[in-house]
Amino acid sequence: MSLIKRLLAVAGCIAAISEGIYVKGTRFKSKVAFLTGAASGIARSVALRLSGEGASIFGVDIDGEGLAETARLVAEGGGTMRSGVFDLREREKCFAAVSSAVDEFGRLDIVGNIAGVNRFATFTEMAPEDWELMIAVNLSAPAYVCQAAIPHLLETSGNIVNLASVAGVMGQAYTAGYCATKGGVVQLTRALAMEYVKREIRVNAIAPAGVDTAMNVDLHFPEGMDWKLVKPYMGHRGLATADEIAAVFAFLASDEARPVHGAVWTADFGVSAG
Ligand SMILES: NC(=O)c1ccc[n+]([C@@H]2O[C@H](COP(=O)([O-])OP(=O)(O)OC[C@H]3O[C@@H](n4cnc5c(N)ncnc54)[C@H](O)[C@@H]3O)[C@@H](O)[C@H]2O)c1
Repeated sequence: MSLIKRLLAVAGCIAAISEGIYVKGTRFKSKVAFLTGAASGIARSVALRLSGEGASIFGVDIDGEGLAETARLVAEGGGTMRSGVFDLREREKCFAAVSSAVDEFGRLDIVGNIAGVNRFATFTEMAPEDWELMIAVNLSAPAYVCQAAIPHLLETSGNIVNLASVAGVMGQAYTAGYCATKGGVVQLTRALAMEYVKREIRVNAIAPAGVDTAMNVDLHFPEGMDWKLVKPYMGHRGLATADEIAAVFAFLASDEARPVHGAVWTADFGVSAG
């Protein structure tokens, strides 16, 4: 059991876990979804959810084995997924990944910037490579993917859903790099929403608190950290499941959310409400 789960179990607030539910529907019939981070966690759940409701998926990740497993699960549910291994730390790879999706399916309707990394540290001891990694994967990659994808989304009246975090809307101790990048994703979302406000595309973000994924396994917290500072952002109701975040994603990406544009949709059991 991960450290976070153990702490939440001690606090009596582990959430119910749901995994691998195939939800069937037609909301995304004939649509193509481009998802980064699709080898794991939230993006895998989004791939299953959207494909179950009719979308064709193009998944991107650095982890080829994980991508193959997601594709297998999508196929098992009757869906279609193609994928490409791309390291999104590089701008050209972000553009190449989007091009591959368009080459494969001929269009793009939904973009999910979901790949992400987190490193905890006492700020003054934060390794420069960790800062650069978080900036590259969490902030630069979504920006470059948006640059590459927007011309295609303008053709289909498509939309973008960026995975921000509650760390993008509130300060959190020992994770300044992650907070800075997720705050950047929040503002990237709002800025693009304004720039394209007169066009038929939508740009939104989701800001979850803890989600039960690989990101919360084997966490390395700084030695001597003050747990009292961390407690407020652990909340009171445990972790969300990846499927629950995928359900929020699916709503925002669907035509049902037509008026929702420039929103930063918290999914954090109230963590940021206090
Ligand atoms: N799990 C949480 O508690 C939580 C909370 C709030 C927000 N988020 C955000 O949700 C998103 C998804 O996270 P998750 O919980 O599913 O984690 P995860 O670790 O399961 O998935 C992240 C994926 O990103 C991929 N990735 C990392 N670096 C990459 C790179 N350079 N190029 C391509 N792919 C790369 C990983 O291989 C992995 O498959 C992230 O942006 C994360 O910051 C997660």
